[in-house]
Amino acid sequence: MAGPMETSTKLMHPQLSRAETIPSSWYFDPAVLTREKQELFWRTWQLVAKMSDLPSPATYFTTELVGEPLLLTRDSQGVLHGFFNVCRHRAGPVAVGCGTRKALQCAYHGWIYGLDGHLISAREMEGVDNFEPLSFGLVPVQIATWGPLIFVNLDGQAPSFDEVFSPIIHEVHSKGFDLSNMVPIERRDYDIACNWKVYVDNYLEGYHIPIVHPGLFQELDYDQYEVITYQKYSKQFAPVRKPGATPADTRRYARYVGSESASPDAEALYYWIFPNLMLNIYPDNISTNVILPTQLERTLTVFEWFAVPEASADEMKDTIDFSEQIQQEDIFICEHVQKGLSSKSYNRGRYSVKRENGVHHFHQLLDNALKK
Ligand code: FES
Ligand SMILES: [Fe+2]
Repeated sequence: MAGPMETSTKLMHPQLSRAETIPSSWYFDPAVLTREKQELFWRTWQLVAKMSDLPSPATYFTTELVGEPLLLTRDSQGVLHGFFNVCRHRAGPVAVGCGTRKALQCAYHGWIYGLDGHLISAREMEGVDNFEPLSFGLVPVQIATWGPLIFVNLDGQAPSFDEVFSPIIHEVHSKGFDLSNMVPIERRDYDIACNWKVYVDNYLEGYHIPIVHPGLFQELDYDQYEVITYQKYSKQFAPVRKPGATPADTRRYARYVGSESASPDAEALYYWIFPNLMLNIYPDNISTNVILPTQLERTLTVFEWFAVPEASADEMKDTIDFSEQIQQEDIFICEHVQKGLSSKSYNRGRYSVKRENGVHHFHQLLDNALKK
C-alpha cells in the first residue's frame, strides 16, 4: 500500500482554490493514527490537567495521553513536575488515581520514588551489577501552566510552551482577559463514533451552520463569520446578527463554546491550536475543548468550563446548556460523515474558498507533520 504520507506531497495543494481534501483513508487507516500519535500528540503541547487536580504541595495526579500513562506531582516545595507514569523496574504504575503523598510507591514491586522523580529505594536489589539507583529516576516530560490549565509535552526537544503559546497569551492579556483566578465549573465528556479529525474539521468551519445548526444560524451574522489562520493556530470571529440584540441575548451566544461562537464586538476570543485544542476566552470565563482519539473511529471530546469566582451560576448554566445542544447537532453530523468517508464511493472532496480556509490550514499542517 502506498502510505498516505508518500502520496501527500503531490496531492495536498497549498492553494485553497486548487486543493483537494485529504484522502478519506486518513480517517480510518491504522498507520495514519500511529503516525499521528508519534508526530502530533506526543510532540505538541497537550492540555492534560488543571491546577485544582494538584491543589497543594505533596500531591499527585495520574492521567493518560492517547495511551501514554502520565504522572503529575507537586513536590513538598509546591513545584510541579511531570513524568511518564512508568516504573523504571518493569514498567509498573508508579501511582494510580490521585491523592496526597510524601513519596510514591510502585504498585508492582514497591520501588519508591520522590515527588521530584528520583528513585528513593528499590527493595531487594542488592547484588545487581551496574545498577545505580541515582540514575534510575522517573522519565520526565515537559510541563507548563497557564492560569488554571496544565500542559505537558512528551517530546523533550519540542519548542517551549512560551514559544508556541506566547502570541495567544499576549493577545489574551492585551485584550484585558485574566485567567489567573479562574476555577473549574463543569466538565463534560463526549464519546463520538468518528475519527478525531472529523470533529476538528467540523469545528474549523462555519459553512455547516445554516444546515446543521439552524437555531444558532438565526443568531449569527453569517456573512461576517471568519476564520483567520496563523502558523500553528487559527482564530474565529462570528458576530451576533441582530442589531437590536440585548446584552442578555448576546451574552448567551458570546459565551457559547465552539466554533460558532458569537461575540457582540470581538469581546471573546476563539482559538484552535494545532492539532486538537480549542480555547474559548471571555471576560469572566473560559472553556476548553480537547479532542482525543481513543480508537481509529472513536473520539473523546472533553469540554471544561472555568470562571472567575464571582461569575453568575445561572449564566454559566445557560452557556453550558446551549453548548450541549450545539454539541449534539455536531455529534450527529460527525458520526454520519465518518460513515461517508469509509464508503468506497468517496475519496477526496474540495474546499469552499469562502468558508473552509480553516480546514485547509489544518490539513496542510497535518500533511507537513506526518510526512516528515
Ligand atoms: S515494576 Fe515498579 S517496582 Fe517493579
Ligand atoms: Fe457545528
